[in-house]
Amino acid sequence: MIQSHEGNQHDHNLLVTGGAGFIGSNFIRYLFEQTDFSGRLINFDLLTYAGNPANLQDIQELYPERYVFVRGDIADAATVKAVFRRYDIESVCHFAAESHVDRSIKSPDRFIQTNIVGTFQLLEAALSQKAFRRFHHISTDEVFGSLGHDGMFTEETAYQPRNPYSASKASSDHLVRAYANTYSLPVTISNCSNNYGPYQFPEKLIPLIILNALEGKPLPVYGDGKHIRDWLYVTDHCQAIWLILTRGVAGETYNIGGMTERENLYIVQRICELVDELARPDADRPSSELIRFVEDRPGHDRRYAIDFTKIRTELDWQPREDLDSGLKQTVEWYLGHRDWVNQVRTGEYRTWIKDHYGEMK
Ligand code: NAD
Ligand code: TYD
Repeated sequence: MIQSHEGNQHDHNLLVTGGAGFIGSNFIRYLFEQTDFSGRLINFDLLTYAGNPANLQDIQELYPERYVFVRGDIADAATVKAVFRRYDIESVCHFAAESHVDRSIKSPDRFIQTNIVGTFQLLEAALSQKAFRRFHHISTDEVFGSLGHDGMFTEETAYQPRNPYSASKASSDHLVRAYANTYSLPVTISNCSNNYGPYQFPEKLIPLIILNALEGKPLPVYGDGKHIRDWLYVTDHCQAIWLILTRGVAGETYNIGGMTERENLYIVQRICELVDELARPDADRPSSELIRFVEDRPGHDRRYAIDFTKIRTELDWQPREDLDSGLKQTVEWYLGHRDWVNQVRTGEYRTWIKDHYGEMK
């Protein structure tokens, strides 16, 4: 169990935005199950296609006094202010965002509204609270742009976002820093690498490939499959966020990485092996035969890599899960949660998959 550093950090009113999404719901579960957080948590989420309150059904039932769900849009100033006042919000952990790069390329509008305007409205509301303690903003390594063969992103790397998603996240990071500098709002920011694990919406690479392999569908790999991402198991990310929220220094930024750089093709092949081992032991043909190289994403960033020396040395954090154990747990989770999968693959999801990938042979 992670103990809070300062006694007053664990019993306050914490607003979590986007807590019905992938990382947000894992974070709330982590807080209730693995930390000494004893305050009230308000999960504020619009429930877009990516949000699913059923992710936290058990938490809602177990902690009816301490867990509150409010449906609303972070870009709606009046609702945001009302929530801050009604629940006397003292800290914010801000996850809510439009998060899928491919969707941002096809329709950027919602990314601007949610990621930029929404962050602005939250900052404004936080400023108007009397005893406000901390605004933690969850950002991404994608704000730094694309790396060549060498080098890693540090907290000092200049921002160079290259698609509408990363530009909207970079813009929100700038706003957060501006509120710290101009109005002395106590903020922290974390920029982390690609997360994977339970409850990830199956439009992102890892859950998409797991489910397609299980169902014998084509496995789309963009371009030559040699793009490199650093992969971080979601619970490791949650632990880092809680450490920053409770022990991080206001005004600081922390990079969070998984120490696991891999080419996309490697990830896809490894998932195929795991699916074959865990779910298709008697199959005649390996799932890897389903791999299809498809048209590349426009402006596709080639490589991301995170140097997380700062959080390791200052907050004594490092990832616990390695890729093999993390991927195995993830495949097992999707195998054991077919109802969840069927529930989230709505008409909207099917339309996205059909429009985005077309007919793959
Ligand atoms: P997600 O898409 O799974 O979840 C986003 C959540 O935000 C959903 O529950 C959705 O309903 C909610 N939301 C969207 N628009 C909203 C609005 N206008 N008002 C209120 N709620 C709204 O995203 P995720 O993968 O969990 O990512 C969470 C955060 O972490 C994002 O800020 C993302 O940029 C960041 N991040 C994600 C990754 C990753 O690999 N997934 C990596 C680095 C950073
Ligand atoms: P994704 O999960 O969308 O995360 P991000 O774009 O935020 O890194 O994609 C991870 C990598 O996998 C990225 O390089 C794009 C690639 N990719 C594919 O090759 N095929 C796919 O169908 C998807 C969704 C992604």
